[in-house]
Amino acid sequence: MCLAGVAAGAVAPSSGTSAQAATASRPRTDSYDDPVVFNELSPYRQFLKKEGIPVYEGGFIDVNKIELKPWKRVGALGAYIFLEGTAGTVDAWVCEIPPGGQTTAERHIFEEQILILSGKGRTQVWQGDPGKMITVEWERGAVFPSPLNTWHRHINTGKDPVRMVAITNAPLLIDTFRHTDFIFDNDYVFTERFDGRKDYFSPKPAAFYPTVARDRTGKTNARGHHSYTIVNYVPNVWKAELHPAGQGVEDYDTHYAMARNSMALHVEQFPTGTYERCHRHGPGSTIILLDGSGFSMMWPHEIGTTPFKEGKQQQVRLFEWKEGTLVVPPLQWFHQHFNSGKTPARFVKLGGWNNDLYPFTTTLVSDPGRTEIDYPDEDPRVRQIFAERLTAAGGQFKMPESVFKR
Ligand SMILES: [Fe+2]
Ligand SMILES: [Fe+2]
Repeated sequence: MCLAGVAAGAVAPSSGTSAQAATASRPRTDSYDDPVVFNELSPYRQFLKKEGIPVYEGGFIDVNKIELKPWKRVGALGAYIFLEGTAGTVDAWVCEIPPGGQTTAERHIFEEQILILSGKGRTQVWQGDPGKMITVEWERGAVFPSPLNTWHRHINTGKDPVRMVAITNAPLLIDTFRHTDFIFDNDYVFTERFDGRKDYFSPKPAAFYPTVARDRTGKTNARGHHSYTIVNYVPNVWKAELHPAGQGVEDYDTHYAMARNSMALHVEQFPTGTYERCHRHGPGSTIILLDGSGFSMMWPHEIGTTPFKEGKQQQVRLFEWKEGTLVVPPLQWFHQHFNSGKTPARFVKLGGWNNDLYPFTTTLVSDPGRTEIDYPDEDPRVRQIFAERLTAAGGQFKMPESVFKR
């Protein structure tokens, strides 16, 4: 590899304005494009360090409880969450704005899908001309995107702090382009993502595609058994209307396509005493529990579909969740969710790549053949564990016997 050749074309953070005059109209502040450094942090990891706020890693976390620190760039409190299961394709941030406060306006060429955890306020969005700004009012439960590369600013209009969480695909973009100026100070206008119309954030869907009947003839289920709603704003995911789903028994969901994003988004609910079919897929499906309590089981797919039968139970991870738990099932790990609480379990999934509208070519993130284990094929120990934990919690097993038969 010719390092000298690479170096000659590279732009150092504090140089190159004359050599690069045609393209470098502004000084390049945060460049992670140093060709002579090997085995250092990825550009995204370098960016995280510069952000100067906590970065939480691991398997799952409570978004309502994590400690936030002053986030200078944004002008509020913040923390990043970068969990194993993202495989580095998406991240999350949590931000808190005090009463009377607002974030510094920003724009960026990564996608961002936001959930309001508490408080009320508004977000201003504009493209180029601030005179053409549009505003979306929100409170706890609202979900909306910052449309790709539009200017946006969040304002707390209530009496309590606002806490919000967002999933972004910044890691992919920052690692690919390596200049944060290109990411955060880019004049390209994605007109199809945001057209500036006043009703852009209307809760009225532009289109709705109902659930397609589920095919239970094989182990692998093709895409398309979920309902799809094309909309840029959901006022309250706790109350959002859901439609028959098919991942479990009497479960309901709605998949949303927002701002023509590549990242996926859906809300799902399943009843007490039931659990969902085990399945596996690509990385980054970031689940945030909204209601209910229960647990999930996960294991690497390499150990097969019946880990208990095979004596590999040590590799099965089980963890409990409740409102506020954020979890990302690891890449292609089998996972399933159990409701052992007293109320329906509801969650929102922000991020992930199972978007039927804009699938990726790389099978590293897209799921052309989503794999699942139907109830008759699962390890019998799975339902036993659920029944035992339900009994201990004073609950009742409500799975109909028929689902375990072909
Ligand atoms: Fe943003
Ligand atoms: Fe999943």
